[in-house]
Amino acid sequence: GLGVYYAAARRDTAGKIDFRTALAIPPLAEALADAASGAAASGAASTVRRFALGIQAGETQLKEGTPTRTWGINGTYLAPTIRARRGETVEIAVHNGLDRETSLHWHGMHLPAAMDGGPHQPVAAGETWTPRWTVDQRAATLWYHPHVHGATADHTYRGLTGLFIVDDPSGDDPAGGPAGDNEASATLNLPSTYGVDDVPMIVQDRAFDGDNQFTERIPLAGSLGVIGDEILVNGTLGPYFDVTTRLVRLRLLNGSNARLYNFGFSDDRSFALIGTDGGLLAEPWETNRLYLSPGERAEVVVAFEPGETVDLRSYPSPDYGGASGRLDGFADRLDVCRFRAGDDLADDTELPAALGDAPDLGDAVVAAERSFVLASDQINGRSMAMDRIDFGVREGTVEVWEVTNDNGYIHNFHVHDVQFQVLTVDGTTPPPHLRGWKDTVLLVPGSRYRLAMRFSDHTDPNAPYMYHCHLLQHEDDGMMGQFVVLADGEQVGAVGAGHDHH
Ligand code: C2O
Ligand code: CU
Repeated sequence: GLGVYYAAARRDTAGKIDFRTALAIPPLAEALADAASGAAASGAASTVRRFALGIQAGETQLKEGTPTRTWGINGTYLAPTIRARRGETVEIAVHNGLDRETSLHWHGMHLPAAMDGGPHQPVAAGETWTPRWTVDQRAATLWYHPHVHGATADHTYRGLTGLFIVDDPSGDDPAGGPAGDNEASATLNLPSTYGVDDVPMIVQDRAFDGDNQFTERIPLAGSLGVIGDEILVNGTLGPYFDVTTRLVRLRLLNGSNARLYNFGFSDDRSFALIGTDGGLLAEPWETNRLYLSPGERAEVVVAFEPGETVDLRSYPSPDYGGASGRLDGFADRLDVCRFRAGDDLADDTELPAALGDAPDLGDAVVAAERSFVLASDQINGRSMAMDRIDFGVREGTVEVWEVTNDNGYIHNFHVHDVQFQVLTVDGTTPPPHLRGWKDTVLLVPGSRYRLAMRFSDHTDPNAPYMYHCHLLQHEDDGMMGQFVVLADGEQVGAVGAGHDHH
């Protein structure tokens, strides 16, 4: 029953997990036809990187004993990490090998709405969908997951989650990216060897039944969906990571449907936050705790001493506890991953004092202000409707969206197509971890967030982008809306009108 379930969800695992399994590192997706190097030599303007993703059902040995029935991409659980540079065109053949319709959404990506992989780009069972777009944004840790209306929580929970890392063009790749418009993260000497000192960490909670199967949705009052009591990182339960360098960059994704993480180390050491959802911060921020709500990413750099062992954990958050009884479900101290440093640590990277460009929308001319109130599975009193476009924004303008969580339960807010700047929280300067580019922000109950964002290109009056709560059951239950980006003089159209993509 629910009582037992809650008790399980509140279990404090810190210090009780034996970290017996090496942390799995998601493989890098292989580019099928990588024209980038040839084009760089010839100075050609367009390069195409082609990827193939096969969505499939299977079984994965997540625990000892019976394997768990899971979904995966090019594998049975999770998905390969896609990497592309700014300026490159990517073309991704998404084959749906499931017995039902699903989709893949490129979370955090600036791209045409018809390529977004949201509720209006479902891929039928057995079909292949091949979106194509040119990457044009800062280096950042993005990700991808299903986004079919009403089933996002279920499909994502079964295992369809991967990272999409955007890189800046490197010095030897002049083909990529508009000149002078990136923070050239490639020239910073940050830890950047994938899986060695630049480590992806997809953090998820899962609830297993007695037969090692993921439990189906448990209808908690208010529909949070599942809060699991076991933590997987990249699909590994109780993982350890062998550290071989003094500095390690972790690319953390809260890949959970509903659980919040308040990351910290078992010895309370500080670490440096260097990047948020949309890319590098202006400068590193030293902290010993970092809160991530579902869908948010953080890049952090941790320094290790030779021979030491330290655990990454999630700690209860005194900040938001007590806002509602519901939050107690999050208030357990959980083990996440053990780091075991070798006796000799390579030391050839550094943490620069200056990283990227700070978001600069604070003084922009604001074309429109809008307000969004999240409560009771609705936004501004309305539930998501597939055929209703809530509003249009103008290409080339900056808008300020004021977002409020008005019902005492935890929500967050995610906007497709753009990275936004958090201007203020309750009228004051946001804390350091909210000063970088973001596409998803935690909404503390009762607080007011002012978000500034600029809309550019990809206009289409009939193809909407989504904004929604990224607690996936809330999204499925209707806490979502749709907007279109309009060219000068254009009016909001009708969903799907004049399109041949579905
Ligand atoms: Cu990560 Cu609209 O979603
Ligand atoms: Cu919510």
